[in-house]
Amino acid sequence: MSLRHRLLALIAVLLAASLLVGSALTYWNSLQKIELEMSSALGVGENSVRDAVVPLLTGPIVEEQLQRIITSFNGDRHVRASLLSPDGTVRLQSHVKMPAAPAPEWLIWLLTGTEHTTNLDLPNGAGRIQLQAYPLNEVTEVWDDAKIKLAIVGVFCGLVAAMVSITLGRALKPLEELSSALQQVGAGDYEVHVSETGPHELAAIYRGFNTMTTKLAVAEQTNRRLNEQLNTVQDEERAEIARDLHDEIGPFLFAVDVDAQTIPALLERNAHQDAAARAQAIRQSVGHMQTHLRSILQRLQPNTLLDLGLAHAADQLVEFWQTRYPAITFDVECSDQTFGPKIDEAAYRILQEGTSNAVRHGKPSRIELSTRKLESGALEVRVTDNGAGIRPTARKGLGLAGMRDRITLLGGTITVEAGPNGAGVTVRAVLPIAEQAGKHHAAYEEDVQDRL
Ligand SMILES: Nc1ncnc2c1ncn2[C@@H]1O[C@H](COP(=O)(O)OP(=O)(O)O)[C@@H](O)[C@H]1O
Ligand SMILES: [Mg+2]
Repeated sequence: MSLRHRLLALIAVLLAASLLVGSALTYWNSLQKIELEMSSALGVGENSVRDAVVPLLTGPIVEEQLQRIITSFNGDRHVRASLLSPDGTVRLQSHVKMPAAPAPEWLIWLLTGTEHTTNLDLPNGAGRIQLQAYPLNEVTEVWDDAKIKLAIVGVFCGLVAAMVSITLGRALKPLEELSSALQQVGAGDYEVHVSETGPHELAAIYRGFNTMTTKLAVAEQTNRRLNEQLNTVQDEERAEIARDLHDEIGPFLFAVDVDAQTIPALLERNAHQDAAARAQAIRQSVGHMQTHLRSILQRLQPNTLLDLGLAHAADQLVEFWQTRYPAITFDVECSDQTFGPKIDEAAYRILQEGTSNAVRHGKPSRIELSTRKLESGALEVRVTDNGAGIRPTARKGLGLAGMRDRITLLGGTITVEAGPNGAGVTVRAVLPIAEQAGKHHAAYEEDVQDRL
């Protein structure tokens, strides 16, 4: 059963109950009133008959006078007078004024109590005058009264029911809208909004719903963008690894192959020293390849790298670029602290992307990397270069957007602006960190060991 029908049924039950109680009280009152009315009407009639009969006591009974007494009751609404002969037969009877639309039989039956009759004997055994209470007019009055009251109550009930129905209909309409909106959200459509009208309790719910869907839509968009970035970054990463393998490992493999080919010929010629030199060259090439492989693996898995701390990871990062760009001066100032895997990784990614951007786009002579805990308790990560700076025509890449998303998700802020002297670029991120974070790396490791 809908809420509207329930409320309407409840109102109907309440109204029926009050109607029942009201009817019982009205019935009881009416019974008393009719009883009182009848006996007083009969009293008045009795007095007037007695007064009229007094002159008859002294002289002979004049028929005309008797008839006048009876007809004086003609048109009375509550009393009927009858002239009875000594044997009880009715000789004359007054006409009671009848109501135009008498009350129904059942009501008359319900409201007519004991029959009120008074007999007044005439002198010299000339019969008697009988007065009878006649309640039909009184009952009809009660009935007419009740009909008006019933009509008023009926109109009132109808109006109340209509008002409740309209008010509830209006108040609940947005709820129906909300229910279908919730279904849409369940189906993954976060663009849906409901109107924030109606009673303020419900309007607050609608407002909350709209805020929720807006946030969900933003979260979904961010999620989608991060996924796209992830794919692009992965593609870029793969291309870079392929390039690295080709450029760094390829020549050494070629060298190893050449050296290995020459060794048998040298041995045939008994040029043992030269062969040993070639073997040494092969070892050197393998050593170079091992170093490159390690750095590639570390870039692929920063988590393993971060196990040894953010400062260590930053050193490795700088080493990676330093071998490729020996002309650049790197200045690293990273505190030997750990802030938990999430923050550490986010900080490392900023250092990684900031440095890679500086090297690739800025052509600087100096790059500074730093991480430090601010007085506010937050972690500041900064990469500054003195390169060409971001050109006004620079395209919107995924690197900076990815950093921004990553930091925003962790509740931090990031700014990318010109360097201290207006040259180069400074990337500065501030990450909020948990209370217990920010321990020195060694202490953190001890903690982990303890928990294990
Ligand atoms: N340190 C920097 N020096 C000069 N230009 C930069 C620097 N960092 C970013 N840019 C410019 O901003 C653009 C967007 O960078 P980014 O979002 O990292 O994308 P991507 O590196 O893939 O091009 C770059 O293409 C480059 O033009
Ligand atoms: Mg980039």
